[in-house]
Amino acid sequence: MASVILGILLVLAPLPLSTEAQTHSNLTLGSSLTANDQNSSWLSPSGEFAFRFRRMGTGAHLLAIWFEKIEDKTIVWSANGDNLAPEGSKVQLIANGGLVLTDPRERGLWSSGLNSTGLAYAAMLDTGNFILPSESHVKLWDSFSRPTDMILPTQQLDLGAKLNARYSEMNYSAGRFHFMLGDNGNLAFYATPDPSDASDTYWSSNAVGSGFQLIFSQSGQVYLTARNGTVLKLLTSGIVPTNGFYQRAILEYDGVFMQYIHPKTANSSSGWPMGWSTVSTPVPPNICTSIIQEIGSGACGFNSYCTLGDDLRSRCQCPPGYTPLDSMNEMNGCIQDFVPQSCNRSRPETDQFVMREMLKTDWLMSDYEHSTARTEDWCREACLADCFCAAAIFGNGICWKKKNPLSNGRMGPWEKQKALIKVRIHDTTSKCTKND
Ligand SMILES: *[C@@H]1O[C@H](CO)[C@@H](O)[C@H](O)[C@H]1NC(C)=O
Ligand SMILES: *[C@@H]1O[C@H](CO)[C@@H](O)[C@H](O)[C@H]1NC(C)=O
Ligand SMILES: *[C@@H]1O[C@H](CO)[C@@H](O)[C@H](O)[C@H]1NC(C)=O
Ligand SMILES: *[C@@H]1O[C@H](CO)[C@@H](O)[C@H](O)[C@H]1NC(C)=O
Ligand SMILES: *[C@@H]1O[C@H](CO)[C@@H](O)[C@H](O)[C@H]1NC(C)=O
Ligand SMILES: *[C@@H]1O[C@H](CO)[C@@H](O)[C@H](O)[C@H]1NC(C)=O
Ligand SMILES: *[C@@H]1O[C@H](CO)[C@@H](O)[C@H](O)[C@H]1NC(C)=O
Repeated sequence: MASVILGILLVLAPLPLSTEAQTHSNLTLGSSLTANDQNSSWLSPSGEFAFRFRRMGTGAHLLAIWFEKIEDKTIVWSANGDNLAPEGSKVQLIANGGLVLTDPRERGLWSSGLNSTGLAYAAMLDTGNFILPSESHVKLWDSFSRPTDMILPTQQLDLGAKLNARYSEMNYSAGRFHFMLGDNGNLAFYATPDPSDASDTYWSSNAVGSGFQLIFSQSGQVYLTARNGTVLKLLTSGIVPTNGFYQRAILEYDGVFMQYIHPKTANSSSGWPMGWSTVSTPVPPNICTSIIQEIGSGACGFNSYCTLGDDLRSRCQCPPGYTPLDSMNEMNGCIQDFVPQSCNRSRPETDQFVMREMLKTDWLMSDYEHSTARTEDWCREACLADCFCAAAIFGNGICWKKKNPLSNGRMGPWEKQKALIKVRIHDTTSKCTKND
């Protein structure tokens, strides 16, 4: 009896997977998916990649491609991170626009566009690429050529291609970090959406005039090649186990390029945990010291400082006396949680502030005064007596006075200086009460 029931279950179980919505073959023109339709997705033949809507919050959906067979359902590509789709939105495959995403009132939210006419069908491939080909199989559009923040094995980026880090771990709108394989052949990482000077570039392949393609090989290496195929620069390091693993490389929201692998099935004897593991030194290896912007906040936001986690990702923290500007995003910098020092000479307030010490810490680029052959005490007193001074950096007898907002902050064993940050002794509330 039990085996009969089991037999029925085995027959019945696969049925939901074979509904029309879960197509394993070509998608015909007119095919569509609706945001909030639990069952609808376009799967690759192996079922490893899915193209569908992901709910990001109440009534907000992201059209995305992700790893379908792992618990994380890690997103590898997304269409509308800057413009999430409300409940009931629809993406449709149409001849003269490719993939077109509209809200329930049929207003356009996003569309793939096509680089020429003659769209025949669409397909979600087992590589993770979603393609829109013509009858003669010429790709009129594909997700691999329009990456968001991630690349996969077999993916190649041509001159002009860009990877844009997202805003935060859970916010898929574009953040400030990006990298670009420029038309001049150089691959460079930028700390701002609109780089204006050399200090906005925090990593470069130094391949002006020779770079041609960025390749993520099946064997797990990411490298820049010349037109003749010569490898100019490796972005990944080490041997990667590929058989039985998913792979991905991403420009993380903190600006670090990382490579990860994930076992396809649980295997306790393989030594790899059932999750994403890093398999390469990140680029750049120390994000805290790599970004020094002349105009800009550096690796972290203004008034914060960068430390390097064990995972070589940045951690942005607020100094004493400061709190995060945005509690949801530590990258957004910090604000003083006290009333700034008065600049009225008849009540200098010097006695209401202290200099708090932070070892192996520096803020670069925000100095406005510099004195040599000084003691640390002199440096403290000079900053306390100066209402413009937000912090002082002291080292080797040199005292640098810093103004608000502090930029390019970092703390780590590699730093030689000591930071002295000015903080009001009494908090603002008790001060207000006193004045009342
Ligand atoms: C998809 O469509 C193309 C062009 O019509 C055809 O050559 C190919 O065999 C189709 N593939 C599948 C899996 O149906
Ligand atoms: C989704 O699946 C449920 C349960 O299998 C079914 O009742 C419903 O009609 C399906 N919806 C669509 C749009 O296919
Ligand atoms: C469209 O893209 C395909 C594949 O990338 C390319 O071969 C073709 O030349 C492109 N066509 C136009 C008009 O850009
Ligand atoms: C993501 O961040 C951007 C920029 O701050 C913001 O405008 C947007 O509302 C955020 N999106 C979500 C879903 O929180
Ligand atoms: C390939 O191109 C690179 C860069 O342009 C050049 O340095 C190298 O000599 C070339 N190699 C061959 C075999 O042509
Ligand atoms: C599990 O991992 C071990 C060691 O890497 C390997 O020899 C074995 O074939 C794996 N088993 C499966 C089922 O993948
Ligand atoms: C400076 O402080 C003195 C004493 O509190 C006050 O009388 C004066 O108005 C202040 N000056 C300005 C410009 O605020």
